[in-house]
Amino acid sequence: SRVRHYKFNVVLKNHTRLCSTKQIVTVNGKYPGPTIVAREDDTVLVKVVNHVKYNLSIHWHGVRQIRTGWSDGPAYITQCPIQPGQTYTYNFTLTGQRGTLFYHAHILWLRATLHGALIILPKLGVPYPFPKPHKENVLVLGEWWKSDVEAVINEALKSGLAPNVSDAHTINGYPGLVHKNCNSPEMFNLNVKPGKKYMLRIINAALNEELFFKIANHHLTVVEVDATYVKPFKTDTIVVSPGQTTNVIIEANNKAGKYLVVVSPFMDAPVLVDNATGLASVRYTTSHPTALSTTLTAPPPINATEVADNFTNSLRALNSKEYPAKVPQQVDHSLLFAVGLGVNPCKTCVNGSRVVASINNVTFVMPNIALLQAHYSNISGVFTADFPAKPPTPFNYTGNQLTNLNTTTGTRVYKLPYNATVQLVLQDTAMIAPENHPFHLHGFNFFVVGKGLGNYSPKTDPTNFNLVDPVERNTIGVPSGGWVAIRFRADNPGVWFLHCHLEIHTTWGLKMAFLVENGKGPNESLIKPPRDIPKC
Ligand code: C2O
Repeated sequence: SRVRHYKFNVVLKNHTRLCSTKQIVTVNGKYPGPTIVAREDDTVLVKVVNHVKYNLSIHWHGVRQIRTGWSDGPAYITQCPIQPGQTYTYNFTLTGQRGTLFYHAHILWLRATLHGALIILPKLGVPYPFPKPHKENVLVLGEWWKSDVEAVINEALKSGLAPNVSDAHTINGYPGLVHKNCNSPEMFNLNVKPGKKYMLRIINAALNEELFFKIANHHLTVVEVDATYVKPFKTDTIVVSPGQTTNVIIEANNKAGKYLVVVSPFMDAPVLVDNATGLASVRYTTSHPTALSTTLTAPPPINATEVADNFTNSLRALNSKEYPAKVPQQVDHSLLFAVGLGVNPCKTCVNGSRVVASINNVTFVMPNIALLQAHYSNISGVFTADFPAKPPTPFNYTGNQLTNLNTTTGTRVYKLPYNATVQLVLQDTAMIAPENHPFHLHGFNFFVVGKGLGNYSPKTDPTNFNLVDPVERNTIGVPSGGWVAIRFRADNPGVWFLHCHLEIHTTWGLKMAFLVENGKGPNESLIKPPRDIPKC
């Protein structure tokens, strides 16, 4: 294994999209940011220098950070922000992981433009569990607002209403669509040689939208999600939620031409519907450079739940001898989290109330000192360890409930002893409206053992759980008007954020944290904080 050094100068840079120019927050001036490439078991050191006017932190999304919570990155959870002019070096080892992950800013809405791929190749000499593709390409999906993104969210918070939707979806930074009054569609082209196979490492770095992805006339063979191998299967369309990654293999087995790639919203959110489909192309390279004709394809309609379910229900852990699925068969902590939106009073807001979000009716309040620092140094008064294991009763999950919309507030965490096994059922609520929530857990992968519509039944639903080869992920969609059950082992001491990866929902409070205590063994404790850890 090796040590890989990266330097991230975080700088403002002008970028032009949809015929208008704005300053965005970037790594080394690039949007999307540079790709980090390492191998399993390598150590990665990223020296981050903050040259912008914002407080900053960067999260290595999906990296397990075993005992190195100080390098996880969510601001005020594991570290205080890197202040303007300051430097912090993230230092972590990619233990037992291989595949596609990504990094993104984890403060304010800076991740809109500060994000990039993090590729973990297998150890030297270890093959993929599928035939090696001719080439590999990264496809980062994102969202572009013509206005300043911090202004978009500040405006929403002031009014208490939902923020403006983005103006376009992007593929590797380009919208590829003809927009109102703008006739220069900048498009990403993926060049392929006829007869060859290509692996696409697809990352959803969008802020607020789950996305469909498909390519005209090409099947996608899914081989990996969230840096875990799956049993390969063919599909025409995949769904990728913010925070999720999917590796697919395509074969350039059509006649020479250009084939449209479409990225469109799969949104159950009544407040956030938009139609800005992002476009790219798969372009066959031929010896005679005649004009290639373009084959089009239509994206699935918005709310095409069946298309989404067909894909997600096909995902199974590879569960081979080399890569066994270590699903906890017994459960020490059984938790039920009701997740959804509500409203709280707000005198200065447009409707006299603001939209908020909650887990078990608790709207999480960010502390002023990072929770991990407070925990490590025994600073009292920063959080309480009394996060409710289940919703308050009576609690009407999926029924239309027009009373009791108000939530409570608090900085509450749930404490887990080292190595405890956890079953967590995430139940969507319909307090305002049923909605999909892609939930991300820091510091762990989890197994998706069950999923259903309506209210979760602790009596009957567990009998249908898959405890053999459930897919292993770090981000999972809680179905609109339904629930999902995950299991994980708390084998990583520290403080770990759990939140909806729709950024607006996180902002509204759809988040909490687990506090995992140190174990008694020699390698079961959180390491000491690095010397350059930022102070609040
Ligand atoms: Cu990708 Cu807490 O985030």
